[in-house]
Amino acid sequence: MKALIAAGGTGSRLRPLTHTAAKQLIPVANKPIIYYGLEDIVKVGIKEVGIIVGKETADAITREIGDGKRWGINIEYIHQEKPLGLAHCVKVARYFLKDDPFIMYLGDNILASDLTLFTKEFEKSDANSLILLAEVDNPCEFGVVELDDKNQIKRLVEKPKVPPTNFALVGVYLFDENVFKAINGIKPSARNELEITDAIQWLIDNDYKVLPYKVKGWWKDTGKVEDVLEANRFVLSSLKSRKETGVRVDGNSRIEGKIELRQGVEIKNSVIRGPVTIGDKSVIVDSYIGPYTSIYYGCEIRNSEIENSIIMENTRIKDISYRLDNCLIGKEVEISKNELKPHAMNLILGDRSKISLS
Ligand code: G1P
Repeated sequence: MKALIAAGGTGSRLRPLTHTAAKQLIPVANKPIIYYGLEDIVKVGIKEVGIIVGKETADAITREIGDGKRWGINIEYIHQEKPLGLAHCVKVARYFLKDDPFIMYLGDNILASDLTLFTKEFEKSDANSLILLAEVDNPCEFGVVELDDKNQIKRLVEKPKVPPTNFALVGVYLFDENVFKAINGIKPSARNELEITDAIQWLIDNDYKVLPYKVKGWWKDTGKVEDVLEANRFVLSSLKSRKETGVRVDGNSRIEGKIELRQGVEIKNSVIRGPVTIGDKSVIVDSYIGPYTSIYYGCEIRNSEIENSIIMENTRIKDISYRLDNCLIGKEVEISKNELKPHAMNLILGDRSKISLS
């Protein structure tokens, strides 16, 4: 079995971060989102992994992930010229997938279940595809699946205005080579994309067998800021305490709950209340870091309070009198207090930045 990870999307709902970075590389609990899927695939024992990259994501993703040797796998980067849909990703990957069965994993999805549950079920069945379903509160934002009273798939519909059920299609799918016939048989949708949902419907309409599998564990599509923060909370909720080499915590600091402190972290006169993860060489001075916060490497937090947030690498936050909560802050950002008169706010914000002041 092979694997295909789709990481070509532009991440328009995560701007401005995605103006300069690929959404699949945004760190959740200090690990780029795409690594969650990749590591799950490695655990199944798959050795041949194709990653679909788009014009905007190719460089950063290739640089970050490399050739796969560190996981003992081969990675092939497959270029998709334009984001023309998930079924289009499969189409352009045909030369890599050949006629082998494969698992397709969307690079912005995080799934807490063990993938072997699904690969084994697929392999022992005579199905041509296996799809995962999860109950959600907002089915309009997903592919939605309608089942009959025998739990067989009746119909799939992509982002319906009036959803027939609240079963969303999870971004992890298993296929055999018949999916290529399906993709050749469908037309672009209203958003001008070849939808994988339509390809699955084509399989059903043409008497191929598609098995539905209801996912019991947690699942998240990290397409929006609130989803990224929720994924961060979820992953941190099972964090294990860990202190790597070179960590220094002074006697005036208090560490409570589950805290991960990576190499060379320095904490002075601060309270850290877990679950919290702090990346290599970050420095926290005279500050409070509250639950569900991930601070990536090289950051400096002085005289400030933060909780329930993601702070990306090399960011500096100094002397902020408000508590920062529910924030997703990019790399190399500087937030500091203006000591000069007039007492005004000086903002240098990139396109589509969002700040909410109280
Ligand atoms: C895509 C699929 C959708 C699926 C979702 C899961 O949506 O089109 O059917 O439910 O992934 O993450 P998109 O993220 O492209 O909006």
